[in-house]
Amino acid sequence: MITNTLRDLAIAAMEKSYSPYSTKKVGAVIELSNGSTFTGCNVENSSFGGTVCAERVAIWKAVSEMGPGIAVKTVVVATDASPPWVPCGICRQVINEFATKTCEIHLVNKVGDVKSFTHEQLLPHGFDRSALNR
Ligand code: THU
Repeated sequence: MITNTLRDLAIAAMEKSYSPYSTKKVGAVIELSNGSTFTGCNVENSSFGGTVCAERVAIWKAVSEMGPGIAVKTVVVATDASPPWVPCGICRQVINEFATKTCEIHLVNKVGDVKSFTHEQLLPHGFDRSALNR
């Protein structure tokens, strides 16, 4: 479920963005099953390829602080865009690694738009560890 707290955390994270090349600020917050939250923003690089999206920064922070057992219940992504941006394909795949079965993804912006999906809607048939266990 998206709450005002999660929305505000994602918008605040967006303001921290390092995005001199695209000039597009992105913020994200993830809520874990244990109730803890981690934020991230996009961090760009002059090599372009070294750029990391806000969603992945939030997930890297959560794993590095909480360990490998994290379960992502909710993701909120904030941009200045209207309609708000969806997560890129790489981020959907990274979210897939840690998403709960019912993980929700909410897209927000500063003018109050909210678009909500399940992770399953945004990445049906995601690749996961079951393919490797043969
Ligand atoms: N970006 C994100 O942070 N998340 C996404 O899911 C899509 C793209 C960032 C990467 C780059 O800094 C900028 O948006 C333009 O692509």
